[in-house]
Amino acid sequence: MSRLNRRQFTSVAASAVAVAATSRVSVAQTPGPNEQLGVCVVGANGRGGEHIRGFNKDPRTTIRAIVDVDPAVGKRRADQIKELQGKAPEVYVDVRDALASGDFDILSCATPNHWHALMGVWAMQAGKDVYIEKPISHNIHEGRALVAAADKYGRMFQTGTQCRSSGACIDAAKFIADGGVGEVNFARGLCYKRRKSIGALGNYPVPKDVDFELWCGPATYTDPKLTRQQFHYDWHWQRHYGNGDLGNQGPHQTDIARWGLGVDRHPQSIFSYGGRLGYDAERKDPRYVDAGDTANTEVSIYDYGDKCLVFETRGLDVTESAGPVVDAMFGKGGGNKIGVIFYGSEGYVAQVSYNHCKVFDKDMNLTQEFRAKTSVGDDHFANFIDACLSRDAATLNANAMTGHLSAGVSHLGNISYYLGESNKASVGEIEKVVSGVKSLDDNSETLAETVKHLESNGVDLDKTPLSLGPVLKFDNETEKFVDNNAANSLLTRNYREGFEVPSAENV
Ligand SMILES: NC(=O)c1ccc[n+]([C@@H]2O[C@H](COP(=O)([O-])OP(=O)(O)OC[C@H]3O[C@@H](n4cnc5c(N)ncnc54)[C@H](O)[C@@H]3O)[C@@H](O)[C@H]2O)c1
Repeated sequence: MSRLNRRQFTSVAASAVAVAATSRVSVAQTPGPNEQLGVCVVGANGRGGEHIRGFNKDPRTTIRAIVDVDPAVGKRRADQIKELQGKAPEVYVDVRDALASGDFDILSCATPNHWHALMGVWAMQAGKDVYIEKPISHNIHEGRALVAAADKYGRMFQTGTQCRSSGACIDAAKFIADGGVGEVNFARGLCYKRRKSIGALGNYPVPKDVDFELWCGPATYTDPKLTRQQFHYDWHWQRHYGNGDLGNQGPHQTDIARWGLGVDRHPQSIFSYGGRLGYDAERKDPRYVDAGDTANTEVSIYDYGDKCLVFETRGLDVTESAGPVVDAMFGKGGGNKIGVIFYGSEGYVAQVSYNHCKVFDKDMNLTQEFRAKTSVGDDHFANFIDACLSRDAATLNANAMTGHLSAGVSHLGNISYYLGESNKASVGEIEKVVSGVKSLDDNSETLAETVKHLESNGVDLDKTPLSLGPVLKFDNETEKFVDNNAANSLLTRNYREGFEVPSAENV
């Protein structure tokens, strides 16, 4: 099928909406074997494999199409699906061709972040229900467009934050809401997750057969095209496409943190400091420049008025103690520590993995545990499929607004970091600022722990200092920063022609 231009695609999408609106009425509550919902998985390399596994496992869905801009990935997954289902899916390189074919009900997207929102909007315009990986957006403007599109087209929208369907997290959130550890106004999200350097900044060949212009889509088209060694996955650490670990691992934890704190809104002020540090020390070469340009060390403080969230990203080795509270919950010694700690007036709740939460009293005695008894990922797909069949969006565990607000935490934190990136500051200068930033954390203590972590990884903060972002005020209603044009310009991006994510009013 020839590739449709934007105008042709929009007209196909409009008629598809009309067709879907009528045909959907006939979908049975409990589909028989011939009434499975058809799924198109878009972006099939890493996480897309889990989408294939999940939809294949559920008897109510069948995978009819695969889209991947890398034909080698598309072929590999099509072969796998043929093995699983006994029938090969349609294979596409361009999602517009798949949408024009129209032969499926659900679009499930696991592409790089810069494509999520446009795919979601196009698919909902074409009458598809959508499962979109976290973060659902690359910026705030895109999240709002997805919320508006789901509403306007009456589509089921599930955000890929599967912890929302984790029995452990559901029980822990209820326990907190019921006052299990008293009053909870403060949460700390942890992404202590080792990330090695992605290799030197350079000029690398794009894999043959990959249409790089299509891969870039809504993102900037750069020259040189590919500045990282590895084509797949490492885009997470280049800000044109990814959102660093605050926007990668982060949305799982920022989502759980918002849930437990009960804040269904954006923060009213945001402040970050951090850097991409330690890789020159690791390579023992002061001139070494890693190809990533997102922070691998970042502390972000979010003020919600009466509630507060602090999110810490540490991409270097956690070698020894991470402080008595974190050690007690996540284990002493080195290694990754990923989760959320809720600080209550009568104790703590810690989400220590996707399927496990722990409760501690004030003396750090473990008093209760919550565990998911079934697969968190499968349950999240099942919750989505339930809603696709019942057409009851209220039953979705992670709708578009949930995804928007939780991705938004990452975007807002990164904006403070990006704006302050060239503002290199000594630890003393940062200490002066953080001690005055409104927070329910001990900001000075968190800074001291961050510095200790960096120094234990050989980072010389005199030679490679941290960057100090500005404190930004944000208006939840207008979704704009207050009196800050530079910050507001980062709420969206300059879209390439043909790949514009429309505003919420124009979806
Ligand atoms: N929910 C989770 O637990 C979880 C886990 C891992 C990843 N993710 C998310 O899944 C997404 C994908 O991550 P990954 O690790 O699989 O990345 P990846 O780079 O390994 O795979 C992305 C795939 O998308 C393809 N692609 C890129 N642009 C495309 C386009 N326009 N059309 C079709 N295909 C396109 C690439 O060729 C590649 O095969 C990310 O947004 C990530 O945050 C979620």
